[in-house]
Amino acid sequence: NMDELYERARAAKTKLGSRLFILGHHYQKDEVIQFADATGDSLQLAQVAAQQSADYLVFCGVHFMAETADILSTEKQAVVLPDMRAGCSMADMADIDQTERAWSELQRVFGETIIPLTYVNSTAAIKAFVGRYGGATVTSSNAEKMVRWALTQKERLLFLPDQHLGRNTTVKLGIKLEEMAIWDPIRNQLELNCPADDVKVILWKGHCSVHMNFLPKHIENLRMKEPDRRILVHPECTYEVVHASDDAGSTKYIIDTIAASTPGSKWAIGTEMNLVNRLIKDYPDRDIVSLNPYMCPCLTMNRIDLPHLTWVLESLVEGRVPNQITVDTKRTKEAKMALEKML
Ligand code: 13P
Ligand code: SF4
Repeated sequence: NMDELYERARAAKTKLGSRLFILGHHYQKDEVIQFADATGDSLQLAQVAAQQSADYLVFCGVHFMAETADILSTEKQAVVLPDMRAGCSMADMADIDQTERAWSELQRVFGETIIPLTYVNSTAAIKAFVGRYGGATVTSSNAEKMVRWALTQKERLLFLPDQHLGRNTTVKLGIKLEEMAIWDPIRNQLELNCPADDVKVILWKGHCSVHMNFLPKHIENLRMKEPDRRILVHPECTYEVVHASDDAGSTKYIIDTIAASTPGSKWAIGTEMNLVNRLIKDYPDRDIVSLNPYMCPCLTMNRIDLPHLTWVLESLVEGRVPNQITVDTKRTKEAKMALEKML
């Protein structure tokens, strides 16, 4: 019974008082978001986590976000992920062994001319790898700034693990598609589109399975039926989709754009379902639809639900800390170097 769970979660939260801080990513369900002390995109939540002093940081998001919170919080604080199955398929597309293998091959081809950058949607091990080799993390909110910085450090960059955010960001900075090579971690192989000397960016062949559901045909259909509907997408969508849209930007950018839009304006949004539904609800005087009419949920984000949240809060009240996310000291130190450059 959801009403009963709501009361139980509220009571537990009240009992924990200032010892508890709940962080909620914008893609979380309303039943969870209603309990969040701070909501945000991944950059905002990393910043919030770094500043909190509560004993328990309950992270309503996915595994890599909870790891980031653990890296940025103090040793005494415990970060809790309400459901351990809340992972991210994109983060899983770059494992550390594959990355070490790729790095040694890329060193062989390009020498010491590469700086690694990783989207925060990656494991702590990848963030540590990037920190170790002088690189930094990026989020969709600051990718352009970080890529610009990286290219002042070295001739070319390796961008992990989302090829689409990497391609969309670097194309905006004037890098040509031919100047982007792709590292395929499954075939353990470099795919070149130009002579190796001319390569500016090496894109890791990963993607977000949620944002891949927005397709050029959805845009073509809309343009035919409703040419006055503006199309706004997240840069985890493919280059073709971003290129054909009116605008693209991070989760925060999407929210801010809708907030600043005029009543009556018409929008088709290409991002996760819970966020699109929340925008529809929060801005009833705008006409908002999902770019993919079937809506696109992030199934792993959605594993965090009110029953799991209630369970962890009641466990904390009873003095148990379930589902604690801990990153070991060596990885924390290296990953922190990468994160702090960004923050
Ligand atoms: P942002 O929160 O950085 O926009 O990232 C979107 C996302 O896919 C989170 O997993
Ligand atoms: Fe990962 Fe995509 Fe889900 Fe974000 S929306 S957590 S990138 S699978």
